[in-house]
Amino acid sequence: MQIDPITKEELIAIRTQTNGCSSVIHLNNAGASLPPDVVIDTVVAYLKEEATYGGYETEYKNIARIEDTYRLIAELIGADKDEVAIFENASAAWGTAFKGLKFEAGDEIITCEMEYVTNLIGLSDIQKKGVKVVVVNNDEHGNFPLSELENAITAHTKLILVTHIPSSGGGILPIMEIGKIAAKHQVLYMVDACQTAGQYQIDVKAIQCDILSATGRKYLRAPRGTGFLFVKRVSRISCRPSCWISLQQVM
Ligand SMILES: Cc1ncc(COP(=O)(O)O)c(C=O)c1O
Repeated sequence: MQIDPITKEELIAIRTQTNGCSSVIHLNNAGASLPPDVVIDTVVAYLKEEATYGGYETEYKNIARIEDTYRLIAELIGADKDEVAIFENASAAWGTAFKGLKFEAGDEIITCEMEYVTNLIGLSDIQKKGVKVVVVNNDEHGNFPLSELENAITAHTKLILVTHIPSSGGGILPIMEIGKIAAKHQVLYMVDACQTAGQYQIDVKAIQCDILSATGRKYLRAPRGTGFLFVKRVSRISCRPSCWISLQQVM
């Protein structure tokens, strides 16, 4: 699933298209990348247009380009356009999906040791409602143990929730294999792909995830203040009836 390494020529072209590269050596893509000039120019031109003609009028004029963003995101992750929503950041995307799921006391959520901090706040809140959060710890090599995941699944498991590439620690979770286990047990599956989008190829069908969230400002080099959410079309969700947590209201 790794994107092919870029050539030297491509690297030079990318640097030439990124004004920031003339000032600094910036390695903090896991925080926020230097955006290419075209991103900054487009955002600035749009803001200027809004300031001159008004926000609604500018949106109306640019509606085709705005709509096309959904198509491009869908293409990026192998989804359909109507399975994608755009958000102001990944946390808002993740939180909207998570809060759209209905849990009852006694339900169980399985997650990993390296879950992102804002996701942990959601998990901490849901625990107050009597939902059990089961953490599958990494093995002695720091890898996510698939057998432990399978052992942790019970009749009460409603959701498997993981972060593909955690923001610290350098690990990568086997999201395809986790997806196979979620599908086998027909449990709803949600992936935080914030550090993945733009760095690794994402194919939601190959991952077999029901929900996936990501941010724009990291490896996609989009402007800050952008994120997106994928929610599989309800008719395609194949979790067992007891895991059927209403997703319709999310999108
Ligand atoms: C794994 C992971 N998930 C979620 C987030 C949150 O992204 P955002 O700031 O766009 O809400 C980050 C940001 O660093 C992250 O690394």
